[in-house]
Amino acid sequence: MIGRVEIAHGVNLDTLGRRDPAVYGTLTLPELEVRVRGYAVELGLEPRFSQTNHEGEYCEALHRAAETADGLVLNPGAWTHYSWAIRDALEVAGLPAVEVHISAVDDREEWRRRSVIADLCVGRVQGRGIEGYRDALALLREALGR
Ligand code: DQA
Repeated sequence: MIGRVEIAHGVNLDTLGRRDPAVYGTLTLPELEVRVRGYAVELGLEPRFSQTNHEGEYCEALHRAAETADGLVLNPGAWTHYSWAIRDALEVAGLPAVEVHISAVDDREEWRRRSVIADLCVGRVQGRGIEGYRDALALLREALGR
């Protein structure tokens, strides 16, 4: 059976490609999605992508995912570091989730080291660029027992 994975990008990730390429690379979000779709298909997973700059919409996407996905790969952007609303929504979703960051958040500013969702996730990948999404999907597949 195919595992349905919601890959949810949060605030400012729509600016990939023009946002500090030394930190985030040169791929745009649509280009990243093509790449990550390939990784997911190779792993036998069925990906669905979303992105929003609105915190409430991100929460609603997590609520909906409870019905439409088997697992989550989350890059909430800066919300990772402080959004208790997104943490609560993730609890509501009740799905296995992996947190992913393109950049090495643990080696950057102090405030990026904190994640309010990490303990609800089965894995966390950071600082591996786009490749990190392959790692995140592999961790999720393991958690789904596939
Ligand atoms: C990010 C890291 C966050 O600290 C930052 O606010 C982002 C992107 C990453 O993918 O490296 O927007 O989540």
